[in-house]
Amino acid sequence: MITYTKPPHPREYRLVFKNVDRVGWDASLQCYLRDGGYQDLQKALTLQPNEVTEEVKKSGLRGRGGAGFPTGMKWTFIPPHNTQPVYLICNGDESEPGTFKDRYILHQDPHQLIEGMVIAAYAVGAHVAYIYLREEFPEAARILTHAIEEARSQHFVGENVLDSGFNLEIHVHRGAGAYICGEETGLIESLEGKRPYPRLKPPYFPAALGLYMCPTIVNNVESLCHVKHIIARGGDAYARLGTPRNTGTRILCVSGDVIRPGYFEIEVGKLTMRELLYDVCGGPRNGRSFKAVIPGGSSSKILRCDESFSLKNPDGSERLLGFWDIPLDFDTLAACGSMAGSGGVIVLDDSRSMSWVLNNLNAFYAHESCGQCTPCREGSAWMKKISARIVAGEASPQDVATLESIAYQIDGRTVCAFGEASSWPVEAILAKFRDEILADTQTAIDRQPQHPEAQAQRRFLTARGSAP
Ligand SMILES: Cc1cc2nc3c(=O)[nH]c(=O)nc-3n(C[C@H](O)[C@H](O)[C@H](O)COP(=O)(O)O)c2cc1C
Ligand code: SF4
Repeated sequence: MITYTKPPHPREYRLVFKNVDRVGWDASLQCYLRDGGYQDLQKALTLQPNEVTEEVKKSGLRGRGGAGFPTGMKWTFIPPHNTQPVYLICNGDESEPGTFKDRYILHQDPHQLIEGMVIAAYAVGAHVAYIYLREEFPEAARILTHAIEEARSQHFVGENVLDSGFNLEIHVHRGAGAYICGEETGLIESLEGKRPYPRLKPPYFPAALGLYMCPTIVNNVESLCHVKHIIARGGDAYARLGTPRNTGTRILCVSGDVIRPGYFEIEVGKLTMRELLYDVCGGPRNGRSFKAVIPGGSSSKILRCDESFSLKNPDGSERLLGFWDIPLDFDTLAACGSMAGSGGVIVLDDSRSMSWVLNNLNAFYAHESCGQCTPCREGSAWMKKISARIVAGEASPQDVATLESIAYQIDGRTVCAFGEASSWPVEAILAKFRDEILADTQTAIDRQPQHPEAQAQRRFLTARGSAP
């Protein structure tokens, strides 16, 4: 029987986080082997590489890094008659605000990741793999480097892995610390020793033209850990966890205005928003009420707690789904106009000013834009300047319209998805909390009632019927 220093909630299903906070557990190989470690690798090596990929496809695993792309399908995108080296990269950048799951795997269960990576590398034919870590994870780099050496000493990594004839070197690489290094092509540029300017897709889809222009599979830490459990159970059995099309478990990181924030591994789609925020996280704090939730990391569109969504049933008919009944899966959150993203659930109660939230997000994206393309470089900085004016009570209602127009001019017009990541929060907050943001522009009017712009604002608000 497993005991934990911080016991999981009864609604959790611990698979990847089985050993996180486990009493008597440490990151050593000895500890991992006592628990049956590397047996799934042994099993995988008895299969052909394409059979391993087939199991991952059957499992229905979707990437846990942000986009939710099917992992097995990604692996099959390596060109069929490829003669170049294939690389596997574990994305350990964990840079999406609100996300704090991969670090626990890296710190407490490094061999689970290494085992998953060796199996994945075997499936895709990679003989060199990298674990790319954000600069802020020096302890993870130390733990992983040691764990790889331990694994090498027992022939789980290196030449002729477990006498199978398969060779694999795994290197730990530390970035210099930038959000954009989490974007897979920016990561690849950084790994090549360059400034992390993302590459255009197409043509630079990593599976075809990745590291050193060779086929490269980039997967998130959590995704790679799931591979081991898929081999252990078999793809079909794994797919019975969670819900159809949204299989397995995933780790949700809940932060913000709840009584019990933290990480929770749940079966995908088996918990609703209400169950997560009230049953698992204990509800709002200090007698307040919930206002809004950013469900999948800061880049995902915000949802109001009093919203309802009109969704299509498989037979084409429509149904109304209230915010609280949203099952936490990829497809429903997308149908509600947001996304499950990286699993970072940021909760806001009614004490939060949406202008402040907007400015906080804008400040992050303006700081992190890599600067390669104009709409993102200039637009993210403009958006931040405007929202800072709103927070300072120095903005006009026209500023709100300008802000919205900038967001829509960034969205879809940039080299990488950072463009959407920075504009979606603005679009969603302005669409859903417009009156609150406009009310904050009121302060400027109150300060200088005779100013021509203040008079224009007053006319604007009077026409909308929202002047005080
Ligand atoms: C701006 C930006 C930041 C990203 N940051 C991360 C990150 O920190 N970690 C991560 O795994 N994926 C991140 N991604 C997604 C990766 O580009 C890539 O899709 C992912 O690593 C693929 O792994 P998966 O298929 O296992 O999810 C980011 C994407 C964008 C656009
Ligand atoms: S969208 Fe932003 S982060 Fe992405 S390449 Fe362009 S400037 Fe860089």
